[in-house]
Parts: sequence; structure tokens; C-alpha cells
Amino acid sequence: MSITILGIETSCDETSAAVVVDGLEIKSNIIASQVELHQKFGGVVPEVASRKHLELVNHVIIEAMEKAGVTNNDLDAVSVTYGPGLVGALLVGLSAGKAMAYGIDKPLIGVNHIEGHIYANFLDKRQLEFPVLCLVVSGGHSDLVLIEHHGSYKLLGRTRDDAAGEAFDKVARAMGLGYPGGPLIDRLAKEGDAGTVQIPRAYLEEGSLDFSFSGTKTAVLNYLNRTRQKGEEVNKADLAASFQQAVVDVLVDKAVTAACKYNARTIMLAGGVAANGLLRQQLQQKGNEKDIQVTYPPQVLCTDNAAMIACAAYYKYLRGDFAPLTLNANPGLKLGVKKY
Ligand code: KG4
Ligand code: ZN
Repeated sequence: MSITILGIETSCDETSAAVVVDGLEIKSNIIASQVELHQKFGGVVPEVASRKHLELVNHVIIEAMEKAGVTNNDLDAVSVTYGPGLVGALLVGLSAGKAMAYGIDKPLIGVNHIEGHIYANFLDKRQLEFPVLCLVVSGGHSDLVLIEHHGSYKLLGRTRDDAAGEAFDKVARAMGLGYPGGPLIDRLAKEGDAGTVQIPRAYLEEGSLDFSFSGTKTAVLNYLNRTRQKGEEVNKADLAASFQQAVVDVLVDKAVTAACKYNARTIMLAGGVAANGLLRQQLQQKGNEKDIQVTYPPQVLCTDNAAMIACAAYYKYLRGDFAPLTLNANPGLKLGVKKY
């Protein structure tokens, strides 16, 4: 018997709903991006995001159901992101999900947004040999997570200051490139030379699996100021390439070190920054040198979407891990901590 799950995701600036069968087959994955709305502010404005989610959420759910060709009766469960994220934004999706689960009398499954990003890797494959080392890099997280089996997460390292995506966004803003910065830097860096601007890499104390990107970001800001004060032209492509290389070097080094240390034969990339071309390529290469398999989701499933939420929910469904209808949004929700 196959299991059909509706997923809802509204934790930040994408309103998304998806229908996924058996955690594998994406019947629909509707993503209404608010990027243009927030672009003029140079970042996500929480109140604006909540209001837009409210406007869109029902339409997006209906569209996802129609595109998938399913009715309420075909659904086995309703899953929704309940944290981490912007509280007002989370509440919109969560209220819609709870109302729907109650209305159609199907179980509600609460999904951690980061868990969703991780499970984007399972949307096209079922068999991965555990333990798996996952590098979660998004706008809010830079985590190294050891996954021993489905639903079991051990945090090995995290950022002590800026997340990788946050550093990309802040550097892009300072360079006048726009928002969101990651894809813009990724594109521009292809035309630049990564060896031109000296950018420090923070490896921290010996053996540490934590990250720190604020010094890397500040080095770019200082370089911009110095160059402008001297009245010289900034070569943005070279600067983008040098910055990106500095971030990727540390991410790849620590991910491979952690995988070796914990005997993980697979490294999974997850989160918005997993869309980065250099990161994908370099991690693949360094992982393969150590006989480690490297997987990453297709580009569209790296950034926020509801298919990844419905996929994570499928494994929770199999465990009977359902949430009560009193489930609340938890903006600071940690991975692996169940707090209904
Ligand atoms: O996972 P996500 O969509 O939202 C969060 O949960 O944060 O990640 C968004 C982040 C942004 O910081 C964005 O700049 C970054 O992912 N990003 C990228 C790329 N595409 C998105 N960073 C580097 N290279 C990319 N190609
Ligand atoms: Zn995300």
C-alpha cells in the first residue's frame, strides 16, 4: 500500500505545498517565491512574509492537490514545518496544516525544517548506507550532522557566528549585487580568479568541527573599504571567486574530516547553499578521493520547498510519529528534539 502525504512549508519566504508518495515520488511541488517582494529591502521582512503566506497558502495547497490529481480522501497524512524559522511565517503554514488535518480527519505530522532539507536527498533514492554525514548549509544554519538511522541526529559541529548562506547574502549586499546573494555570487565567481584576493579561512581549534564565517565576511568588507578608499576599481568577479573559495574550502575540509572520523561512507549536502556549484563539485572530488559517496539534491530541491517536508514526514509516518493538533510553531526548534 502506498502512502500519500501532503507537505506544507512556510518557514521563511517561500510558500510551498507538495504531494509526495512513499517519500519518493513527487506528484506536485508548488513553490511560490516571495524573493521579488523582499528584494527591495535587501532581505526577508518577517511581517511582509507572514502576510504574503496568508494570501497564498490556500491557493498553493489547492494547486498542489489539483496538479497531483488527488482529493482529501487520497491523503494519508498532512505534514507541515513547525520550526525553525520566522514565527509568524511558520504559524501560517502550521494553522493551515492543522485545520486541514482536523477537517479531513487524517494524522498531522510536524517536521523540522532542517530535517526537511536533509530528506531532500532521499527524494530520488531510498538506499543510503548509514551512518551518513550531512552538511546542512542554509541561510540560518551551517551544521555537521551524523545520521545513524532515520530520525536519529547527532550534531557534530555548527557555526559559531554567521551561517554560510548568511555570509553569502551579506557579502553580496556589500558588493551591491542584490538579494539573495548566494546564487549571484555563485554565477559571478565563474568569471573570476579565486587566487587574487587573500581571504582568511577559519579552521578554529585543532579537531573542531565548528565553523566561523564572520571573519571571512569581514575580510571582504575590509577589502571593499580599502580598495574604495584608494579610489581603485573593485574586480567583483575576482572578489566573489576568492570569497566563495574560502567558504567552500572550510566546508569541504570539515565535512570530509567528520565523515572519516565517524566512519560515514556517504556525505549528503543539504540546504540552500547546497545549490552552490563549487561546493558540489569540490565536495564530490574530495569525498571520492577518500572513497566516500557524495550526494546532493537537484538544484530546485536545495532551497525551501514542501516536497522535502513531505519526504521527511513519510519516515515519521512509518514510525507512527504524529503530532497533536495543539502543535505550536517553534522558531528555535533544534534537530532531533521532539517537543510537542
Ligand atoms: O535553505 P534556504 O532556501 O533557506 C533557509 O532555510 O535559510 O537557503 C537560503 C540560502 C540563502 O542564504 C542563499 O543565498 C543561499 O541559500 N543560496 C546559495 C545558493 N543558492 C542559494 N548560496 C550559495 N550558492 C548558491 N548557488
Ligand atoms: Zn531552508
